[in-house]
Amino acid sequence: MEIIRLDDSVRDEFPLIKEADIAYLDNGATTQKPECVIEAVEEYYRRHNANPLRGIYELSVEATDAYEESRQAVADYIGAGDASEIIFTRNASESINLVAYSYGMSVLNEGDEIIVSTAEHHSNFLPWQRAADAKGARVVFFDPEEDGSFDLNKLKDLISEKTRILAMTQISNVIGRINDIKAMTDLVHEAGGVAVIDGAQAVAHIGVDVKELGADFYAFSGHKMYAPMGIGVLYGRKELLDKMPPFLYGGEMIETVTKERTVYAELPHKFEAGTVNVGGAVGLKAAIEFIDRYGFEQIVARENALTAKVVNAMNDMPYVKIIGGRKACNHHGIVAFRIEGVHPHDVAQIFADAGVCVRAGHHCAEPLHRYLGELAGTRVNSSTRLSVGIYNTEAEIDRFLDVLSGIRSRMGY
Ligand code: ALA
Repeated sequence: MEIIRLDDSVRDEFPLIKEADIAYLDNGATTQKPECVIEAVEEYYRRHNANPLRGIYELSVEATDAYEESRQAVADYIGAGDASEIIFTRNASESINLVAYSYGMSVLNEGDEIIVSTAEHHSNFLPWQRAADAKGARVVFFDPEEDGSFDLNKLKDLISEKTRILAMTQISNVIGRINDIKAMTDLVHEAGGVAVIDGAQAVAHIGVDVKELGADFYAFSGHKMYAPMGIGVLYGRKELLDKMPPFLYGGEMIETVTKERTVYAELPHKFEAGTVNVGGAVGLKAAIEFIDRYGFEQIVARENALTAKVVNAMNDMPYVKIIGGRKACNHHGIVAFRIEGVHPHDVAQIFADAGVCVRAGHHCAEPLHRYLGELAGTRVNSSTRLSVGIYNTEAEIDRFLDVLSGIRSRMGY
């Protein structure tokens, strides 16, 4: 595929970005959608919509083909060996719940341990807390260092013969650093455990190869990578998925059903009960094609330059505390911060008043905020977060920095 030069003209592909006078810097929460995604979804509903996997008439076959082509596109995008290792879900949360309820509930026994990084989004923590409670297992926390890095020696110390699962994010939605997933999966595999990787903040921003990472399971959402909301992905190694029981039960996930006994469908359909989200899958394929047209070399360079500009400017503001340290090269599209003396919600409100969209709160990572507060000897419940996407520009970062530099004086400091 021919790579297109990535510059500010990419904004023309996004109707909302082109038309609204805002600096949209909340891409960690969700991304805007390019015309090609909107059109692909519309085209599907206008001309190809039917219930897939069921009908033998042409329209249903078209819907089935569209759905399965999207699955193949996802498999290629993340380097999965086989399209049947791609399960479509609603979002990353549902993907991880699937693993926890199906895999976790099957393998966990009393006294087993699940290592969960303290930087996890609640999506990759709460399902494990629930599974541990149900099975008498224990969640063990893998804490980051003050600069947001993870010390592999700490992980080595936590891993034991009781370890069954490691739940780890590739890029934390607060810290923004790329974790060394390969080294971590190697360690957990040596102990006979499996690794469940949350890729929600990675898939739109860096190239991902699940085999190279050694991920046993890898979860993400479409809406954070320019695709519609309501479509998510779980990648799982075939030999694991094959042995796992279904998570949701109902239509189209069976081979045969009698009053006495049910034989479930082969992968991936065993895990896709009920009518599936073909429009979402079609939109996800269009989003993958959109990202591929630009390529990660350019995307990484563009997004890192923007976050570096933010971090470097913040380094001249001693009252701004950056979560994940003050080294620009460690922030990949995400900079969460606190301004001394000003509540993160007030900070976000001041930005909102100036047309700059950033998120405030605990970002569904409450344990991480508390932990970082403890490290710093203070109480921390929340932060304000900027997160960039492919369409953000230097001018928007200037607009952000302009507001940022005036916040303290506006609050009377
Ligand atoms: N998980 C999303 C975020 O980090 C919603 O903002």
